[in-house]
Formats: sequence, C-alpha cells, structure tokens
Amino acid sequence: MKNMLVTGGCGFIGSNFIRILLSESDFTGRIINLDKLTYAGNLENLDGVSDQFKDRYVFVKGDICDSETVSELFKSYGVDTICHFAAESHVDRSIVQPDAFIRTNINGTFNLLEYARLNGVELFHHISTDEVYGSLGETGLFTETTPYSPNSPYSASKAASDLLVRAYFKTYGIPVTISNCSNNYGPYQFPEKLIPLMILNGFERKALPVYGRGVNIRDWLYVRDHCIAIWKIMKHGKRGETYNIGGDCEIRNIDVVEMICNLLDEICPGKTPARELITFVKDRPGHDMRYAVDSQKLQRELKWRPEETFESGLAKTVQWYLDHTEWVNRIKSGAYTQWISDHYGGI
Ligand SMILES: NC(=O)c1ccc[n+]([C@@H]2O[C@H](COP(=O)([O-])OP(=O)(O)OC[C@H]3O[C@@H](n4cnc5c(N)ncnc54)[C@H](O)[C@@H]3O)[C@@H](O)[C@H]2O)c1
Repeated sequence: MKNMLVTGGCGFIGSNFIRILLSESDFTGRIINLDKLTYAGNLENLDGVSDQFKDRYVFVKGDICDSETVSELFKSYGVDTICHFAAESHVDRSIVQPDAFIRTNINGTFNLLEYARLNGVELFHHISTDEVYGSLGETGLFTETTPYSPNSPYSASKAASDLLVRAYFKTYGIPVTISNCSNNYGPYQFPEKLIPLMILNGFERKALPVYGRGVNIRDWLYVRDHCIAIWKIMKHGKRGETYNIGGDCEIRNIDVVEMICNLLDEICPGKTPARELITFVKDRPGHDMRYAVDSQKLQRELKWRPEETFESGLAKTVQWYLDHTEWVNRIKSGAYTQWISDHYGGI
C-alpha cells in the first residue's frame, strides 16, 4: 500500500482517517484525497495536513463518478490501494432528493471498481453502514450474515454499492474488504447529524428537535475507534470478507440528547436547564426503530476493541465543538467558500 486513493477524505470520517493514518499509524505511503467538496466536504477539516506532509499527501478536487478524473489519478499517482468513503450520507436528504445518492453511492462506486479492475489494485476497501441491514425489533444484533433489508434511499444506495464490491471480488477477483459501521460521532462532523446539531443548538439556546418520542435506538462509536478499525481491516482483514464495526453502545435518541444537555449545563450553563429546549417533532418517514451491531468477528479475528466510552467520547466531542466555534460559524454561514478562496486561491 504505497499510493492510497482515499475518496471523500474531506468529509467527517475520511478527514479523521487521513489525519490518523498520516500521523499515528505505521502507514508510510502517500495519500491521494479525491473529494468533490459537496456541502459536506470541507478542506478546512485537513487544515495543516498538506504543509506537514508535503511529500505524502495530495488533494484533488473531483468527482468519483467522473471517469477521466479517476483514470488520470491512476496514471499520475500509480494508485495501488483504494479506501472509499465518498458518499451522500444523510438519510433525511435522501428522502427529499434521492438522485444524488443513486449517482454518487452506486454509480460512483461502480466507476471506482472499474478502474480498480482495469489497473489492478492491492486492495479496495469499501466503507459502509449498518443501515443496510434494516431495522431490529427489541432484541437481536446485526451480524455479517444478516440479510440486507434497507429502508431509506440512503441505505438502499449503500446496500447496492456493497453488493457491487462483493460481486467484483467474486467475478474478477479484485481484493476487497467491506466494513459496515454503526453511527459515528466526534470532531469535524457536519452539523446536520444528531449529535453536533444538538450540541450547537444547545450552545445557542435554540430548540433541540427530536423525532417522534425519541425512542429510536442507535449504536454509537467514536470516530477515532472507527478509523483504527478500518486500518486494521485494511492491513489484516481477509480479502473478500465483510466486518461489522460497532461500539457495543445502544442508546435511545432521547437519552443521547439528555446526556448532551447535562454536559452543556456543566460546561456552558444557561439561565434554564438545557433539557427545557428539547422539542419533539413529526417522525421521519420509514424511521428505523433500532440498530445494534455485533462486532465479535472483528474483535476475535483482528483484536480490535473500541477505546472510547460513550461518556468520554461525548464529553470530548462537546468540548471540541466549543473550541472550534470559528469552524462551525464558517460552515453554517457559507463563509467557508470565502475561506477556501483565501487559503487556496479558490478551487
Ligand atoms: N457518519 C456515520 O455515522 C457513518 C456510519 C457508518 C458508515 N458511514 C459511511 O462512511 C462514509 C463517510 O461518511 P461521513 O459521515 O464522513 O460522510 P460525509 O457526508 O461527512 O462526507 C462525505 C464526503 O464525500 C464527498 N463526496 C460526496 N460525493 C462525492 C463525489 N461524487 N465524488 C467525490 N467526493 C464526494 C463529500 O464532499 C464529503 O467530503 C460514507 O460512505 C458513509 O456511508 C458513515
């Protein structure tokens, strides 16, 4: 793994992964970060990385669906490994406008697989979600053999991409690994997802909107633990296999929001307790009731364990958002476009 194409490296998980890989892991090669910079991609998430790792990091603005761009990258950089994060990733957006999800998540993955097939790669690692398995009742866990049963355009498009990756292994023998992870949280997450939305609304004493009665259950994993798991799978995972990644941490949405409220009351108390801001809103259509991931295979075979507890990870996350108000303000005000222009002369 000398020249790794990381797609979607300016997003939440991809940017954390690049930072960890370059500064803390045993990876010694070069990363080529291909990102279209959609609303969710932010160059500032990797601020300082190109200066610190001049010879080992390249950013290319481009679309994974664009054949010429991907072909050029293989030629120019001798790509031998792909770590594929790029996706449209927000369920609510997929309900309103599914077309971008079909294009990027399915066609984009297909395009990358084609170039992997034509050029040969050492590894194609595909990042996916536990949402492909659908929704659980009160008991049970998703394992790697749970049948796919996606319920939103987002999860359906991710399921389709997983199956394409699997088929390229079976049909063409491309060395692949797939990981299906539960809900992530941590630094650099775009403030449309539950945890950063609640933290930032809480800072501003705005309403904290919770779907339905907040009883839907998710399994939470700190983003750094996810990134470490991905690297372990890339290095030691069996080719052609899927690994589930989860935090063993099932919590109801309302409990997550109340924990955030308690932290806000400690760190930046307002005149009234933050939980008074909680507002129940009309439920999302097709809202999955419960996700819970069995990551025994990864724990057993690759000796991975999450390091962060939800309490410690959440406290770090609240503090990170408090310490990065300029980042937040730029993202929320659209001033980010100006920031790119100032720092990179416009892209
Ligand atoms: N966030 C989670 O909780 C979670 C959990 C499990 C799996 N995942 C998966 O992990 C991956 C990354 O998720 P995330 O939360 O970091 O997403 P994100 O929305 O924060 O980032 C996605 C990145 O992909 C880029 N992108 C989108 N379309 C592109 C295209 N056509 N070409 C090139 N780049 C494009 C965006 O600019 C952005 O930088 C996704 O595949 C997602 O399905 C996410």
